[in-house]
This record gives sequence, C-alpha cells and structure tokens, in this order.
Amino acid sequence: MFVHWIFLVSSVTLVSSKGIPGRIVGGHTVSIQSVPWQASLLKFGRHWCGAAIYSEDLVITAAHCVRNSFPGIYSVRVGSTFTTVGGQVVRVSQILAHEDFGPSFSNDIAVLQLRTSLKLGSSVRSIPLADSTPKAGSSASVFGWGAIGHEKPTSQSLLEVEVDIVDKQRCLGSYGQVLTKDMICAAAPGKDACSGDSGGPLVSNGSLVGIVSFGMKCAHPDYPGVYADVAQLKPWILGAVQRLQSRKN
Ligand code: ARG
Repeated sequence: MFVHWIFLVSSVTLVSSKGIPGRIVGGHTVSIQSVPWQASLLKFGRHWCGAAIYSEDLVITAAHCVRNSFPGIYSVRVGSTFTTVGGQVVRVSQILAHEDFGPSFSNDIAVLQLRTSLKLGSSVRSIPLADSTPKAGSSASVFGWGAIGHEKPTSQSLLEVEVDIVDKQRCLGSYGQVLTKDMICAAAPGKDACSGDSGGPLVSNGSLVGIVSFGMKCAHPDYPGVYADVAQLKPWILGAVQRLQSRKN
C-alpha cells in the first residue's frame, strides 16, 4: 500500500514537472544583440554564473560566484547567445569582491578585471549603473543561462524573464532578517531567476538595477528573487573600479 502511494506521488510529480512549459522559469529566448551587456562567467571553461559588462575590460558579477578563488580559473564569454560557443572569450586577471560580503549574502557583488579588452560592437556593449533604486511595481527583466526551474537543467540559449520590483516590506515578510538594505527583490507569478543565473543582470529602464543573488527555490509564490541593489552599492562599485584601474597602471 505504502509502495503504491509512493509510486502515485512520484508519478504525479513527474507529470506535473512535464506540464511546466519548456522554457521556464517563465522565460523566453532572447538574442545577445538585444542584450549586448550580458556575459557568461566561465569557471574552468564552463558556464558558472552570469555577469554584466561595465566597460571594455571590467565586468560585474555576484561575490558568491567568485569567492575564495583565483582569477586564473575564470573567463567570460561575451557577444554570444550561447554559453558554449561563439562570441569572445577573455580571461579574468583580477577579482575584487565586496569586503563585507556576508554569510547571509549581504553585499553580494564583485568587479572583475579582464586580461585583455573586449572588442565592443553591436553584440558587446556596457550597461550604465542605476542611480536610484527602482520603486516597487516597476517592471524589470532578468537574463541568464541558468536552470529552467528548481532542480531542472540549465539553458544553452540566453533567456529573459520579466519581473516586477517587489515592495521591501513584503520581501522582508518572506525573508526576515536575512534581507539587508543592499538587497532588492523582484518577482512575478511563475517567473524568476534560478541557479546559474547568479551574477547576471536585473535591468530596468535601460540600466543595471540588480545582480542575481539568491532565492528560496525558484519562482516560489511566497519568496521573491533577491538581487544585490546596484544603486545602493554604486559607491562601492565606483571605488572598486578605481582601485582596479590604479593597480593596472
Ligand atoms: N544563487 C543562485 C546562483 O548561484 C541564484 C539564485 C537565484 N534564485 C532565485 N530564485 N531568484 O545561481
């Protein structure tokens, strides 16, 4: 009887997971030309995280994507809709992660210096940083090659998902103390970033407003996706950029 029950439950789970549309978490494919600032951060040559192009030799990603590691194991692929082929692949020469990146993912941001400059063009371009945190209800998009659902495979092709900025109080209600002032939340029913999207950009009104950081599972109705708040962290980012540039010369 018990065995039957287990069988029933697992087949229901199988059927329902098949019932979820091919591309999730609620996303659709997008070409790199329409999001030329998107980069894939490779670790040992394989897709590891997302990143956003800040300038021809700097990209921004999440601190948790690069903590405790040597720059030499990372590179970025830019100018390609795919993580495995095309575009330009450039090695990372320096990592500057936020000094106060905490165990609960506060200040989840890092700036990476590239060994050689990217060739900018129609599919490789930088994105400006947001000056202010977008208001609750603003629409935004998040992009990446991450998982198409919780514990699901990743996507070979770049996906976009439209989400709305969530009220901070509501997000505090979901995550409690974990949520710090350097974080911003975004969600929409059945839509979210997921594992492998970390470090990638949340974009609103043409500027970088967030960096994919964490979430409870993916597209969970009670738990929005959490992002590093770029406008809040902008002073740190600009300082990091200066420190990297002065080390280089
Ligand atoms: N921490 C994940 C990563 O390393 C990103 C999770 C984002 N999750 C979410 N539900 N928005 O790729």
